[in-house]
Amino acid sequence: MLALLGSLASALWVEFHLRSLLLGVVVFLFFVDFRKRRRPKNYPPGPWSLPFLGNFFVLGFEESHLVLQKFVKKYGNLLSLEFGDLHAVTVSGLPLIKEVLANQDQNFVNRPKTPIRERVFKNHGLIMSNGQEWKEQRRFALTTLRNFGLGKKRLEERIQEEAHHLIEAIEEEKGQPFDPHFKINNAVSNIICSITFGERFEYQDGQFQELLKLLDEVTCLETTKWCQLYDVFPWIMKFLPGLHQKLFSDWEKLKIFVSRMIEKHKRDWNPDEPRDFIDSYLREMTKHTGNATSSFHEENLVCSTLDLFFAGTETTSTTLRWALLYLAIYPEIQEKVQAEIDRVVGQSRQPSLNDREHMPYTNAVIHEVQRMGNIIPLNVPREVMFDTTVAGYQLPKGTMILTNLTALHRDPAEWATPETFNPEHFLENGQFKKREAFLPFSIGKKTEVQEEELKKLPTKL
Ligand code: HEM
Ligand SMILES: *[C@@H]1O[C@H](CO)[C@@H](O)[C@H](O)[C@H]1NC(C)=O
Ligand SMILES: *[C@@H]1O[C@H](CO)[C@@H](O)[C@H](O)[C@H]1NC(C)=O
Repeated sequence: MLALLGSLASALWVEFHLRSLLLGVVVFLFFVDFRKRRRPKNYPPGPWSLPFLGNFFVLGFEESHLVLQKFVKKYGNLLSLEFGDLHAVTVSGLPLIKEVLANQDQNFVNRPKTPIRERVFKNHGLIMSNGQEWKEQRRFALTTLRNFGLGKKRLEERIQEEAHHLIEAIEEEKGQPFDPHFKINNAVSNIICSITFGERFEYQDGQFQELLKLLDEVTCLETTKWCQLYDVFPWIMKFLPGLHQKLFSDWEKLKIFVSRMIEKHKRDWNPDEPRDFIDSYLREMTKHTGNATSSFHEENLVCSTLDLFFAGTETTSTTLRWALLYLAIYPEIQEKVQAEIDRVVGQSRQPSLNDREHMPYTNAVIHEVQRMGNIIPLNVPREVMFDTTVAGYQLPKGTMILTNLTALHRDPAEWATPETFNPEHFLENGQFKKREAFLPFSIGKKTEVQEEELKKLPTKL
């Protein structure tokens, strides 16, 4: 009896202790979470968020863009969202987007470190690097791209040549239905490949087709729930199976391809006659040997080359596939484009950049394809570099900034038929009309090459 009471008492005691211990831990975690989630007084408003999880489950599922649209209506053009430890603010509307990307550019030029990018690129390369490293890599890449023909006739000729190959490949299908997806990707990719690797790849090259599929796959995988979960809870997801693991193995395969290309270049490398981006980079590396703070090292060579290969392939290919789709859906628009091509270019020569100003209709169609295709809907994320004020709100250093290009491209106040493909958006009295609310390439310091930027670069590094 006594023994029984004794063991009961000790069991209760253990239970009590365990419970208070657990309670203590939970209270402590909430406290830590609360402190981490404390934001400045004037922080942009946002929906109520769960401890630890933030808004993940509000947004993590189907139709999340509609939920978000409601939030923007309710809270305004600066909307705060929490994902675990990650604080994000979405920016909507042309005035605020310009404020962030152009006027206050210097406060928003950094990229946030996300766990996936950190693991794959270790924050090296062109797209995700920051600070001195970004400046050095970007300057070098721009100069080298220019030396190999960017903004010059040589690149245009290369594009014309590749277009010729693509047309031949399409003719080989003899008018039968076929999926043009990877022929287009291959043609587009060959342009950047001829600069980075010094070669183009045949459309029948099975190994290269595999790589193009990997590029496509990583683009799709990064938007899956698995990868979003990895970016919020990397310490758990690391150990779990799922599509995020496929993403990592795909990136690894792509890096191995680039590394093999680099090894191949090293074997017959002549520092006095750089053939392409890799050769030039190898020469630049020799100038920095022994300098531990320089960003010109092998890891950055791999990451910058992979960034060019990726960004130079997926964006343009996806846009061209949207163009085919819209021209198929709207045969009357297709006919007008064809008529303009026949009139200005004719059938005996290839089109060139000089033709653009004489082809307002085709130009408008291309712009409308980009508006509707809207292939980078929330832009590439930025990060607040120093505590900043925008529209009266405090944005502390480290906040992730997502500029909503979709809201801009579909703004009913800006476009006559925001949800419908309509080249007239870019036309006025038959002339091409530029539109301010059209920012598929974003704006500011990080955007596509500007003429002025090219002029300021040294002709040789
Ligand atoms: C239809 C074609 C393209 C679109 C819509 C597009 C769009 C974009 C956007 C929205 C950004 C983010 C800019 C920002 O943070 O504000 C970007 C960055 C970038 N793009 Fe493109 N792009 C296209 C083609 C290309 C091509 C062909 C290349 C390859 C040479 C390329 C290389 C890059 C690089 C390296 C960056 C990072 C720049 C930096 O952070 O300094 N893009 N692009
Ligand atoms: C961006 O704008 C679109 C269109 O208004 C909306 O559907 C979407 O939810 C917005 N996304 C964010 C993150 O604000
Ligand atoms: C080493 O590299 C850093 C960063 O590129 C540069 O600022 C510095 O001048 C270099 N040092 C030498 C000795 O070249």
